[in-house]
Amino acid sequence: MKKCWLNNKTVIVTGASSGIGRGITVKLIKEYNCTVLGVARSEEKMKSLVAELGEYGERLSYRLFDVSKRDNWKSYAEYLNENGIKPDILINNAGILPEFKSFERFSAEEFENTIGVNFYGAVYSIKELLPIILESSTPAIINIDSSAALMPLAGTCAYSASKAALKAFTEAVREELRGRCYVGVICPGFTKTDIFRSQNLTEKREEKIIRAVSTSLDYAVKRIIKSIRKRRELTVIGADAQFMKIFGRLMPVKGGRAVSTILKQSGFKLFDGVFK
Ligand SMILES: NC(=O)c1ccc[n+]([C@@H]2O[C@H](COP(=O)([O-])OP(=O)(O)OC[C@H]3O[C@@H](n4cnc5c(N)ncnc54)[C@H](OP(=O)(O)O)[C@@H]3O)[C@@H](O)[C@H]2O)c1
Repeated sequence: MKKCWLNNKTVIVTGASSGIGRGITVKLIKEYNCTVLGVARSEEKMKSLVAELGEYGERLSYRLFDVSKRDNWKSYAEYLNENGIKPDILINNAGILPEFKSFERFSAEEFENTIGVNFYGAVYSIKELLPIILESSTPAIINIDSSAALMPLAGTCAYSASKAALKAFTEAVREELRGRCYVGVICPGFTKTDIFRSQNLTEKREEKIIRAVSTSLDYAVKRIIKSIRKRRELTVIGADAQFMKIFGRLMPVKGGRAVSTILKQSGFKLFDGVFK
């Protein structure tokens, strides 16, 4: 086992049932001997993760609840306290990407749900769990954000707003907790997971192009774990995300406009709900 501060820690991972959260969970358990307390909604997916872990399965336990509801986090904190469970690290990873579409096509409920899961999920978890996390000798909070926080694009208003809020929130809290708790934020770009399931990806050619510009899940997970290991405060993963970081800074208006124009001119069916 690699010598590292992460070894043998107890880690809460939200969205542990699939994609990036699942990858983080497997790596923490197998390579760092961590105990993971997974949070997600799908029992079927969590059971398949336990099966995938085989002999390591006993290092994973899970609770099924919706992260966007504050009462669920209150009950979870009570459950941890009552059972004497003392997590050292909280990784807020659960998130949703709504269908690409214009703001005019969003219902208020869809908007609220996106902000609820992607932003309030992290706010409520930290609100309720911070006192418990701070009891650890190595307290840490890591929020999985997105390149959408670096450059908002047409068609992603709810997602970009939720992720920009998450980044600003994390960075403010990071400064408040400096010296008491490691707080990191990670902004991946397109990554090969099932997060596109709610998109109108009916065209094989479009799917191929999206996959071609996406980072592999394995690489993204490796970079996330390395970032945590090195206690980095901000990590941007993937060439697309680096591009958005640089152009979002250099050209805060024209950068986003240029990319949105390219998306419009691509004629992709995927973006019909944005531009048609
Ligand atoms: N993939 C990308 O291209 C990409 C790029 C940038 C950032 N990210 C961010 O990375 C994180 C993980 O995304 P992913 O790509 O791994 O997506 P994913 O494969 O769809 O996984 C999302 C996870 O979040 C959980 N989840 C969703 N809504 C939830 C809710 N209301 N309560 C509890 N759990 C919930 C899901 O579990 P259940 O279905 O079991 O509830 C699932 O485990 C997200 O925050 C996403 O925004 C992804």
